[in-house]
Amino acid sequence: MAARKKIAIIGAGNIGGEAAMLAARRELGDVILLDIPEKEMFAQGKALDIMQTGALDGFDGKVTGTSNYADLKGSDVVIVTAGFPRKPGMSRDDLLSINLKIIRAVAEGIKSNAPNAFVIVISNPLDAMVYEMKKVTGFPRERVVGMAGVLDSARFQCFVAEACGVSTKEVTTLVLGGHGDTMVPCLSYCTVNGIPVNQLLPKEKLDAIVTRTAGGGGEIVKLMGTSAYYAPAAGSIAIAESFLKGQSRLLACAAYLDGEYGYKDLYMGVPVIIGLNGVEKVISIKLSDDEKKALDKSAEAVRELIEASKKL
Ligand code: APR
Repeated sequence: MAARKKIAIIGAGNIGGEAAMLAARRELGDVILLDIPEKEMFAQGKALDIMQTGALDGFDGKVTGTSNYADLKGSDVVIVTAGFPRKPGMSRDDLLSINLKIIRAVAEGIKSNAPNAFVIVISNPLDAMVYEMKKVTGFPRERVVGMAGVLDSARFQCFVAEACGVSTKEVTTLVLGGHGDTMVPCLSYCTVNGIPVNQLLPKEKLDAIVTRTAGGGGEIVKLMGTSAYYAPAAGSIAIAESFLKGQSRLLACAAYLDGEYGYKDLYMGVPVIIGLNGVEKVISIKLSDDEKKALDKSAEAVRELIEASKKL
């Protein structure tokens, strides 16, 4: 008998809870919410709350909370949100040593209990966390991605849509590079229903949008006192859904680079196709000289972070 798909979410906090809700609401499969033993009851409570929403909203499916890694058995997708979020004044990099320990423990749990899963990492600092996840699990690069470019591109999309006075649906954006202040929102690939954005907005406005996009996470941390969760959760579900349904969406994800764009042994945001096999293809695109220079700088920042984690 064919089994229902199973989506495991590690960390039942703000992002994990929202991701569980979205997965259940879209009926992607049964959902497991896993947190540390001290928060097992919390995870169970959230799971019940989500399942009861189904009675009102009309979705079916099982949502369960646990702290037992054995419950990951048979997971098709594991979304990793475990770790501390940024507090005001903290950079994503400040989180490195705290979240590295957590990601190593989580990676061991996934490796032993869900050895065939497709893993989507959200924990920050993203590029270093997803690198560590691949290293510890030993999974092939097709099965370990980081969720960042999708979110950064969505922020970019919102700002352009607002400035042009059009629906976000008309706007296409792409953000490459590390998920930090050095990210590269690519103006050369930003269009409004096919129209290059520089035909619609003046350079000063575009520059301001690029700056706001790069600081988009920090803007929310300053406002809320913790990091964003609705859009990050939605970003991870977009990737999970493309994988589970074989949609072959072309999405900006942190992918393991093995020579693409001139970088080796590095995780960084690039356009990839996500299908039934996970990362089906890393897409190489032409960049302007300025964009390539900015991407080199971003790769350098990610490389430093990865080197720093190797010492921890
Ligand atoms: N195993 C499982 N869960 C863990 C572990 C672990 N080893 N360590 C911590 N957690 C759980 C926490 O108990 C908490 O419930 O991870 C959850 C994190 O939830 P929040 O604190 O609400 O953080 P959230 O906003 O969801 O962000 C999670 O994603 O975007 C990044 O910067 C963000 O690194 C942060 C992560």
